[in-house]
Amino acid sequence: MTDRPSAADGAPGRIPLYRTIADGIIRDIRRGRFQEGSRLPASRALARTHEVNRATVHQALQVLKREGWIETNKGGGTRVARRSLAGPMVGPAPSWDRISSALLGRMLAEAGVPDGPLDGAHDLARLAPEEKEFPAEAFAKVLADVARDGALLAYGSPFGYRPLRETLAARLERRGVPADADALLIVNGAQQGLDLIGRALVDPGDAVAIESPSYSGALSLLRAQGARLLGVPLDAEGPAMEPLRSALAERPKFFYTIPDFQNPTGLLATAARRRELVAAATAAGVLVVEDAFDADLLVEGELPPPLAALAPGHVVHIGTISKALFPGVRVGWISGPREFVHRLAALKRIGELTSPPVLQAALNVFLSRGDYDRHLLRVKARLKARLALAHKTVLRSFPVGTRCERPLGGWVLWVDLPEDVSGRELAEAARGAGVLVSPGGDYAPDRADVPSLRISVARSSGAELEKALESLGVLARAAVRRAHRRAPRAEERREEALIQI
Ligand SMILES: Cc1ncc(COP(=O)(O)O)c(C=O)c1O
Repeated sequence: MTDRPSAADGAPGRIPLYRTIADGIIRDIRRGRFQEGSRLPASRALARTHEVNRATVHQALQVLKREGWIETNKGGGTRVARRSLAGPMVGPAPSWDRISSALLGRMLAEAGVPDGPLDGAHDLARLAPEEKEFPAEAFAKVLADVARDGALLAYGSPFGYRPLRETLAARLERRGVPADADALLIVNGAQQGLDLIGRALVDPGDAVAIESPSYSGALSLLRAQGARLLGVPLDAEGPAMEPLRSALAERPKFFYTIPDFQNPTGLLATAARRRELVAAATAAGVLVVEDAFDADLLVEGELPPPLAALAPGHVVHIGTISKALFPGVRVGWISGPREFVHRLAALKRIGELTSPPVLQAALNVFLSRGDYDRHLLRVKARLKARLALAHKTVLRSFPVGTRCERPLGGWVLWVDLPEDVSGRELAEAARGAGVLVSPGGDYAPDRADVPSLRISVARSSGAELEKALESLGVLARAAVRRAHRRAPRAEERREEALIQI
């Protein structure tokens, strides 16, 4: 009798035959075919049953013994171990509602039920670069290299891998931000940065000023942390100053702003507005949290100075590689006043000790060797073409009265439809037609439905992008017609109400 050829022991990726046999015997024990305490069939019989030689059966028995499934006695007999005599304890299930924290309740209320994936749909919703564009091979080589250094497989500093902090600080310096590796904290993506900042500063009921509309992930976090959100509308230059001044007068804990290709509007705040808003916040003694998540994705013109370059002592600056490189490595950073960054590092350490040093080291090589900047050039060329195409197609296909500015970078465009169109209904109809898009209301601090959509060009290009936008345009025109039919009825109802008075 010979071992089956597929059994090549130790072949990479294959399960050795003795393991398969051991698993079969475990299954038989679990199903009661071999009772606890009873003798296991002799190895010769097992070899016959499984059509293998006895050496393989012996290997399988060694595994079973090691894992506590069988016991052997001096006489050479093999019995099934008495492992489940005590049995699992049963009793009433924990009352999750009673023991859950208020924070968990708020978080779950925010998390909602995610829409399931839609096979074959055109995705104009997700703001994440496409996997097929990742420089995966190059990164894998660097990662394999650095992983040989045992020190990088140990716990690292809670601030993050120092050489990466130095590289990032130097890059920020080049943009005019007086950054310092000792006042820079590596975080698991900008999202963790926002979470830490929120947890460090917000007690339930505290006011936080935030652009309206703003990044849904920040809104969810802040709501879950119990913040009272003060929405600051945007105009063509950035956050509108009068509403911002009113919000600052309420002494919020901070003002959260996304000056570069704002999510969801794609707006690039002008240099003048940046100066104005930083001056207003500084005068009011309110901290500014600058989310520069898309700062590397300028495709046209010049990037105005970061807010952190204008008033370093009053601005906490957040960055990430997620949108220009890839989000799965989870590297973001916070640079800001040293005293605050050190407090955030303490908070981060309590929660998770450290971020993975090996990934940070690989990223550092990638940045220092120029791979990231070379990748960026390719990304920006693609992005520029997509933004131009999307903008042109929206203007051509959407109903009269639609407004859409062409962003100077970043992955998203904002589309304002004629009044009375429901962004939520339109996004739902689009989903039914196989186009995923985000309704503007998802970005409203008060969650109100608005006649707007956010379009992401991160996952679609060329003819496919054009086709998806044309279908959206058809649905938007139908929505406008429906809204017009509805509007007179609303008007009639208002008139009826007046007559009754
Ligand atoms: C404005 C903004 N900030 C932060 C994030 C989170 O990014 P990260 O992947 O770095 O956590 C996102 C993700 O979409 C975002 O849009």
